[in-house]
Amino acid sequence: MEHVNRVALIGTGAVGSSYAFALLNQGVADELVMIDLNKEKSEGDVMDLNHGLAFAPFNKKIWFGDYSDCKQADIVVITAGANQKPGETRIDLLEKNTDIFKSIVGSVMKSGFDGIFIVATNPVDLLTYMTWKFSGLPVHRVIGSGTILDTARLKYMLSEYFSIDSKNVHAYIVGEHGDSELPVWSHATVAGKSIYERMEDHPDRYNEGDLEDIFQQVRDAAYAIIDRKGATHYGIAMGLVRLTKAILHNENSVLTVSSYVDGYYDVEGLYIGVPAIVNRKGIAEVIELNLDRKEKKQFLESADVLKRALASIQS
Ligand code: LAC
Repeated sequence: MEHVNRVALIGTGAVGSSYAFALLNQGVADELVMIDLNKEKSEGDVMDLNHGLAFAPFNKKIWFGDYSDCKQADIVVITAGANQKPGETRIDLLEKNTDIFKSIVGSVMKSGFDGIFIVATNPVDLLTYMTWKFSGLPVHRVIGSGTILDTARLKYMLSEYFSIDSKNVHAYIVGEHGDSELPVWSHATVAGKSIYERMEDHPDRYNEGDLEDIFQQVRDAAYAIIDRKGATHYGIAMGLVRLTKAILHNENSVLTVSSYVDGYYDVEGLYIGVPAIVNRKGIAEVIELNLDRKEKKQFLESADVLKRALASIQS
């Protein structure tokens, strides 16, 4: 009998319900169980999604469940927790969300879950680390969304700037999913050419100084959206579906997700956003990019931000 891919979603707020909607519309996974303290709202989401099944590419079983449903899950996605309010940084959420995660991860593991965790709640790198610690699962089966959305934002903005399809733009944001993240310009290409070569093709149109402005828009995108609509959820939800698909379809895709690194540029024992090969086993391999001097310094600074935050919560 063919394996039935089950995803258990913990948290049906804006991000969780957007993820469920995107998962259904992209036809990823065979079963989705939604778990949240707010039973009423979640049951409403389940009913609403089931009523759209006739329009979805594939059939799917969707129901409101409890932690016992995690036992048979291939993937548990955690979006539950407090999110940023205007003016709040992601790291400001660490203390309150760590307590929430201790309870959630404990309940999931009590079910006998033995699959892969995907963590989205911020500060995602630190909460991915906490999920690894609380669950006791091997490092490659605990993955954070990391800079998957930041990288997508960068690709979008570069595709707009160069008027080239974002599928032909390869560029990474790495480091903390937060204010200390950094662009890896030294490995960014457009249509197979380095972005610097592309700029030299049309010096009348392009200026290297524009890159810093593009990066700042990427880094500060969440603040800009939160100021306008109170939260971000569509982009991150689609990034979570992309990651879910790479796992369930055993894709060996390279995605910048929050992965455990131990000895990459002296960074050890930390979850941080880096390009990683993702497949059915989780993180198959971290791709250790050869960063230039400036990027290496920024990456170490970003790792230090995470290390200090981790030390503060563990002291
Ligand atoms: C953002 C949230 C997911 O960057 O941190 O939109």
